[in-house]
Amino acid sequence: MENIKQELIDHTLVLTINREKQLNALNKTTILELSQALDAAAENSEVKAIVITGAGEKAFVAGADIKEFAHFSVEEGASLSAQGQDLLFNKVEQMNKPVIAAVRGYALGGGLELAMSAHVRVASTDAKLGLPEVGLGVIPGYGGTQRLAQLVGKGKAMEMIVTADMIDAQDAYQWGLVNHVVEAEQVLEKAMAIAKRTQRNSPIAINAAMKAVLANYTDGVNGYEAEIAAFGECFGTEDFKEGTSAFMEKRKAQFPGK
Ligand code: CAA
Repeated sequence: MENIKQELIDHTLVLTINREKQLNALNKTTILELSQALDAAAENSEVKAIVITGAGEKAFVAGADIKEFAHFSVEEGASLSAQGQDLLFNKVEQMNKPVIAAVRGYALGGGLELAMSAHVRVASTDAKLGLPEVGLGVIPGYGGTQRLAQLVGKGKAMEMIVTADMIDAQDAYQWGLVNHVVEAEQVLEKAMAIAKRTQRNSPIAINAAMKAVLANYTDGVNGYEAEIAAFGECFGTEDFKEGTSAFMEKRKAQFPGK
Protein backbone atom coordinates (compact mmCIF):
# COMPACT_ATOMS: atom_id res chain seq x y z
CA MET A 1 0.00 0.00 0.00
CA GLU A 2 1.12 3.57 -0.74
CA ASN A 3 0.25 5.36 2.49
CA ILE A 4 -0.27 2.62 5.07
CA LYS A 5 2.26 0.40 6.77
CA GLN A 6 0.96 -2.87 8.21
CA GLU A 7 2.71 -5.05 10.77
CA LEU A 8 1.27 -8.04 12.60
CA ILE A 9 2.96 -8.23 15.99
CA ASP A 10 1.87 -11.00 18.34
CA HIS A 11 -1.73 -11.02 17.00
CA THR A 12 -2.02 -7.21 17.04
CA LEU A 13 -2.18 -5.51 13.66
CA VAL A 14 -0.39 -2.15 13.74
CA LEU A 15 -1.63 0.18 11.01
CA THR A 16 0.65 3.19 10.58
CA ILE A 17 -0.55 6.10 8.47
CA ASN A 18 2.57 6.92 6.55
CA ARG A 19 2.39 10.44 5.09
CA GLU A 20 4.68 12.09 7.57
CA LYS A 21 5.57 15.10 5.38
CA GLN A 22 1.86 15.98 5.14
CA LEU A 23 1.35 15.27 8.86
CA ASN A 24 -0.46 12.06 7.89
CA ALA A 25 -3.42 14.02 6.47
CA LEU A 26 -6.17 11.69 5.30
CA ASN A 27 -6.45 11.89 1.53
CA LYS A 28 -8.69 9.63 -0.55
CA THR A 29 -6.02 6.98 -1.10
CA THR A 30 -5.19 6.78 2.61
CA ILE A 31 -8.84 6.37 3.57
CA LEU A 32 -9.30 3.67 0.95
CA GLU A 33 -6.17 1.81 2.02
CA LEU A 34 -7.15 1.93 5.69
CA SER A 35 -10.58 0.67 4.75
CA GLN A 36 -9.13 -2.26 2.79
CA ALA A 37 -6.71 -3.11 5.60
CA LEU A 38 -9.60 -3.16 8.09
CA ASP A 39 -11.72 -5.37 5.82
CA ALA A 40 -8.87 -7.88 5.60
CA ALA A 41 -8.20 -7.69 9.36
CA ALA A 42 -11.87 -8.31 10.17
CA GLU A 43 -11.66 -11.66 8.32
CA ASN A 44 -8.21 -12.68 9.57
CA SER A 45 -8.40 -14.82 12.70
CA GLU A 46 -4.68 -14.20 13.35
CA VAL A 47 -5.57 -10.55 14.04
CA LYS A 48 -7.07 -10.18 17.50
CA ALA A 49 -6.72 -6.42 18.01
CA ILE A 50 -5.73 -3.39 15.94
CA VAL A 51 -3.60 -0.37 16.79
CA ILE A 52 -3.84 2.69 14.54
CA THR A 53 -1.05 5.25 14.69
CA GLY A 54 0.65 7.92 12.62
CA ALA A 55 4.20 7.97 11.29
CA GLY A 56 6.67 10.34 12.95
CA GLU A 57 6.64 12.32 16.14
CA LYS A 58 4.73 15.38 15.05
CA ALA A 59 1.25 14.15 14.23
CA PHE A 60 -1.13 11.27 14.58
CA VAL A 61 -3.19 12.79 11.76
CA ALA A 62 -3.60 16.56 11.09
CA GLY A 63 -7.03 16.10 9.50
CA ALA A 64 -8.67 15.42 6.21
CA ASP A 65 -6.47 16.51 3.30
CA ILE A 66 -7.45 20.16 2.86
CA LYS A 67 -5.55 20.47 -0.44
CA GLU A 68 -7.59 17.64 -1.91
CA PHE A 69 -11.05 19.03 -1.07
CA ALA A 70 -10.44 22.81 -1.28
CA HIS A 71 -12.16 23.08 -4.69
CA PHE A 72 -15.04 20.67 -4.09
CA SER A 73 -18.68 21.52 -4.92
CA VAL A 74 -21.61 21.07 -2.50
CA GLU A 75 -22.27 17.58 -3.91
CA GLU A 76 -18.62 16.58 -3.75
CA GLY A 77 -18.42 17.85 -0.15
CA ALA A 78 -21.42 15.78 0.87
CA SER A 79 -20.03 12.71 -0.82
CA LEU A 80 -16.58 13.20 0.78
CA SER A 81 -18.24 13.10 4.19
CA ALA A 82 -20.59 10.21 3.40
CA GLN A 83 -17.92 8.05 1.77
CA GLY A 84 -15.38 8.76 4.49
CA GLN A 85 -17.82 7.82 7.23
CA ASP A 86 -18.83 4.67 5.42
CA LEU A 87 -15.37 3.53 4.30
CA LEU A 88 -13.42 4.33 7.42
CA PHE A 89 -14.90 5.99 10.49
CA ASN A 90 -17.99 3.82 10.96
CA LYS A 91 -15.94 0.80 9.94
CA VAL A 92 -13.41 1.44 12.70
CA GLU A 93 -16.14 1.89 15.29
CA GLN A 94 -17.99 -1.22 14.14
CA MET A 95 -14.89 -3.44 13.86
CA ASN A 96 -15.31 -6.93 15.25
CA LYS A 97 -12.09 -6.59 17.29
CA PRO A 98 -10.83 -3.83 19.55
CA VAL A 99 -9.23 -0.84 17.85
CA ILE A 100 -6.83 1.32 19.83
CA ALA A 101 -5.62 4.72 18.66
CA ALA A 102 -2.03 5.59 19.59
CA VAL A 103 -1.85 9.38 19.32
CA ARG A 104 1.40 11.36 19.25
CA GLY A 105 1.35 15.07 18.49
CA TYR A 106 -1.52 16.59 16.50
CA ALA A 107 -4.88 14.83 16.25
CA LEU A 108 -6.93 17.43 14.43
CA GLY A 109 -10.16 17.39 12.43
CA GLY A 110 -10.39 14.03 10.66
CA GLY A 111 -7.45 12.90 12.82
CA LEU A 112 -9.32 13.39 16.07
CA GLU A 113 -12.40 11.93 14.38
CA LEU A 114 -10.40 8.81 13.53
CA ALA A 115 -9.12 8.52 17.10
CA MET A 116 -12.68 8.98 18.39
CA SER A 117 -13.93 6.16 16.16
CA ALA A 118 -11.48 3.80 17.86
CA HIS A 119 -12.58 1.96 21.00
CA VAL A 120 -9.67 3.14 23.18
CA ARG A 121 -7.34 6.15 22.89
CA VAL A 122 -3.80 6.53 24.24
CA ALA A 123 -2.20 9.98 23.89
CA SER A 124 1.29 11.35 24.42
CA THR A 125 1.89 14.13 26.95
CA ASP A 126 2.60 16.47 24.01
CA ALA A 127 -0.57 15.58 22.06
CA LYS A 128 -2.78 18.38 20.77
CA LEU A 129 -6.37 17.54 19.98
CA GLY A 130 -9.04 19.61 18.29
CA LEU A 131 -11.69 20.04 15.65
CA PRO A 132 -10.49 23.16 13.79
CA GLU A 133 -12.92 22.83 10.86
CA VAL A 134 -15.03 25.96 11.47
CA GLY A 135 -11.82 27.96 11.05
CA LEU A 136 -11.76 26.65 7.47
CA GLY A 137 -15.41 27.50 6.86
CA VAL A 138 -16.53 23.91 7.12
CA ILE A 139 -17.67 21.61 9.94
CA PRO A 140 -16.38 18.28 11.23
CA GLY A 141 -17.59 15.81 8.61
CA TYR A 142 -16.24 12.45 9.70
CA GLY A 143 -18.55 11.98 12.68
CA GLY A 144 -16.91 14.58 14.92
CA THR A 145 -20.04 16.50 15.87
CA GLN A 146 -21.56 13.26 17.14
CA ARG A 147 -18.67 11.33 18.69
CA LEU A 148 -17.09 14.32 20.47
CA ALA A 149 -20.35 15.05 22.27
CA GLN A 150 -20.70 11.35 23.16
CA LEU A 151 -17.22 11.30 24.70
CA VAL A 152 -16.94 14.67 26.46
CA GLY A 153 -20.57 15.82 26.74
CA LYS A 154 -22.45 18.48 24.76
CA GLY A 155 -21.07 21.53 26.58
CA LYS A 156 -17.38 20.81 26.12
CA ALA A 157 -17.95 19.50 22.58
CA MET A 158 -19.70 22.74 21.64
CA GLU A 159 -16.85 24.80 23.07
CA MET A 160 -14.16 22.80 21.25
CA ILE A 161 -16.06 22.96 17.98
CA VAL A 162 -17.05 26.66 17.99
CA THR A 163 -13.67 27.93 19.24
CA ALA A 164 -11.76 25.51 16.97
CA ASP A 165 -9.16 25.51 19.76
CA MET A 166 -6.82 22.62 20.43
CA ILE A 167 -6.69 21.09 23.89
CA ASP A 168 -3.68 19.42 25.47
CA ALA A 169 -3.41 15.80 26.58
CA GLN A 170 -4.12 16.54 30.24
CA ASP A 171 -7.41 18.32 29.46
CA ALA A 172 -8.27 15.55 27.01
CA TYR A 173 -7.70 13.01 29.78
CA GLN A 174 -9.73 14.93 32.34
CA TRP A 175 -12.58 15.40 29.87
CA GLY A 176 -12.65 11.68 29.02
CA LEU A 177 -11.52 12.22 25.45
CA VAL A 178 -8.50 9.95 25.89
CA ASN A 179 -8.14 6.92 28.16
CA HIS A 180 -4.44 7.25 28.97
CA VAL A 181 -1.67 9.83 28.73
CA VAL A 182 1.93 8.60 28.64
CA GLU A 183 5.33 9.89 27.52
CA ALA A 184 5.61 10.11 23.74
CA GLU A 185 8.06 7.19 23.49
CA GLN A 186 5.62 4.95 25.38
CA VAL A 187 2.45 5.61 23.39
CA LEU A 188 2.77 2.66 21.05
CA GLU A 189 3.92 0.37 23.85
CA LYS A 190 0.91 1.32 26.00
CA ALA A 191 -1.49 0.83 23.08
CA MET A 192 0.08 -2.57 22.36
CA ALA A 193 -0.21 -3.56 26.02
CA ILE A 194 -3.94 -2.77 26.02
CA ALA A 195 -4.34 -4.70 22.77
CA LYS A 196 -2.51 -7.65 24.30
CA ARG A 197 -4.62 -7.48 27.46
CA THR A 198 -7.82 -7.96 25.43
CA GLN A 199 -6.42 -11.14 23.88
CA ARG A 200 -6.94 -13.18 27.03
CA ASN A 201 -10.69 -12.79 26.58
CA SER A 202 -13.23 -14.36 24.27
CA PRO A 203 -13.12 -12.59 20.88
CA ILE A 204 -16.78 -13.51 20.30
CA ALA A 205 -17.82 -11.98 23.63
CA ILE A 206 -15.67 -8.88 23.03
CA ASN A 207 -17.34 -8.31 19.67
CA ALA A 208 -20.81 -8.84 21.15
CA ALA A 209 -20.09 -6.50 24.08
CA MET A 210 -18.76 -3.72 21.83
CA LYS A 211 -21.86 -4.02 19.60
CA ALA A 212 -24.09 -3.81 22.68
CA VAL A 213 -22.32 -0.64 23.87
CA LEU A 214 -22.69 0.92 20.41
CA ALA A 215 -26.38 -0.02 20.26
CA ASN A 216 -27.13 2.89 22.58
CA TYR A 217 -25.77 5.27 19.94
CA THR A 218 -27.77 3.78 17.06
CA ASP A 219 -31.07 5.37 16.06
CA GLY A 220 -34.11 3.26 16.73
CA VAL A 221 -32.23 0.60 18.69
CA ASN A 222 -32.82 -0.01 22.40
CA GLY A 223 -29.45 -0.71 23.98
CA TYR A 224 -30.88 -2.78 26.84
CA GLU A 225 -32.77 -5.01 24.41
CA ALA A 226 -29.67 -5.34 22.21
CA GLU A 227 -27.74 -6.35 25.32
CA ILE A 228 -30.31 -9.00 26.28
CA ALA A 229 -30.24 -10.52 22.78
CA ALA A 230 -26.42 -10.51 22.63
CA PHE A 231 -26.13 -11.91 26.15
CA GLY A 232 -28.40 -14.80 25.22
CA GLU A 233 -26.48 -15.53 22.02
CA CYS A 234 -23.26 -15.93 24.00
CA PHE A 235 -24.75 -19.05 25.62
CA GLY A 236 -24.67 -20.78 22.23
CA THR A 237 -20.96 -20.23 21.65
CA GLU A 238 -18.00 -22.55 22.20
CA ASP A 239 -16.22 -19.63 23.88
CA PHE A 240 -18.91 -19.54 26.59
CA LYS A 241 -18.54 -23.28 27.23
CA GLU A 242 -14.77 -22.93 27.38
CA GLY A 243 -14.79 -19.79 29.58
CA THR A 244 -17.19 -21.21 32.16
CA SER A 245 -15.55 -24.69 32.13
CA ALA A 246 -12.10 -23.14 32.60
CA PHE A 247 -13.38 -21.17 35.58
CA MET A 248 -14.82 -24.28 37.23
CA GLU A 249 -11.74 -26.38 36.44
CA LYS A 250 -9.50 -23.60 37.84
CA ARG A 251 -7.45 -23.25 34.64
CA LYS A 252 -6.83 -20.55 32.02
CA ALA A 253 -9.40 -20.44 29.23
CA GLN A 254 -8.26 -21.21 25.67
CA PHE A 255 -10.96 -19.57 23.61
CA PRO A 256 -11.57 -21.07 20.17
CA GLY A 257 -13.23 -17.82 19.03
CA LYS A 258 -16.39 -19.60 17.92
N1 CAA B 1 -4.35 18.69 4.88
C1 CAA B 1 -3.38 18.79 3.96
N2 CAA B 1 -2.10 19.08 4.27
C2 CAA B 1 -1.79 19.27 5.56
C3 CAA B 1 -2.76 19.19 6.57
C4 CAA B 1 -4.10 18.87 6.19
N3 CAA B 1 -5.07 18.71 7.07
N4 CAA B 1 -2.17 19.46 7.74
C5 CAA B 1 -0.88 19.68 7.48
N5 CAA B 1 -0.64 19.57 6.16
C6 CAA B 1 0.62 19.75 5.44
C7 CAA B 1 0.99 21.22 5.28
O1 CAA B 1 0.29 21.78 4.21
C8 CAA B 1 2.47 21.12 5.06
O2 CAA B 1 2.68 20.68 3.74
P1 CAA B 1 3.75 21.43 2.77
O3 CAA B 1 5.06 21.27 3.47
O4 CAA B 1 3.66 20.67 1.49
O5 CAA B 1 3.32 22.86 2.69
C9 CAA B 1 2.88 19.97 5.97
O6 CAA B 1 1.69 19.21 6.20
C10 CAA B 1 3.42 20.43 7.31
O7 CAA B 1 2.46 21.27 7.90
P2 CAA B 1 2.76 22.75 8.42
O8 CAA B 1 3.92 23.36 7.66
O9 CAA B 1 1.49 23.51 8.42
O10 CAA B 1 3.26 22.45 9.91
P3 CAA B 1 3.15 23.41 11.17
O11 CAA B 1 3.99 22.78 12.22
O12 CAA B 1 3.46 24.81 10.79
O13 CAA B 1 1.62 23.37 11.60
C11 CAA B 1 -0.51 22.32 12.06
C12 CAA B 1 1.03 22.18 12.06
C13 CAA B 1 -0.92 23.32 13.13
C14 CAA B 1 -1.08 20.95 12.39
C15 CAA B 1 -0.97 22.80 10.68
O14 CAA B 1 -0.39 21.98 9.68
C16 CAA B 1 -2.45 22.79 10.49
O15 CAA B 1 -3.15 23.67 10.97
N6 CAA B 1 -2.98 21.79 9.71
C17 CAA B 1 -4.38 21.72 9.37
C18 CAA B 1 -5.22 21.27 10.53
C19 CAA B 1 -6.69 21.26 10.17
O16 CAA B 1 -7.28 22.30 9.90
N7 CAA B 1 -7.29 20.08 10.14
C20 CAA B 1 -8.68 19.90 9.80
C21 CAA B 1 -8.78 19.53 8.36
S1 CAA B 1 -10.43 19.61 7.76
C22 CAA B 1 -11.15 18.15 8.20
O17 CAA B 1 -10.56 17.30 8.85
C23 CAA B 1 -12.55 17.99 7.68
C24 CAA B 1 -13.32 16.82 8.15
O18 CAA B 1 -13.68 16.69 9.32
C25 CAA B 1 -13.84 15.87 7.17
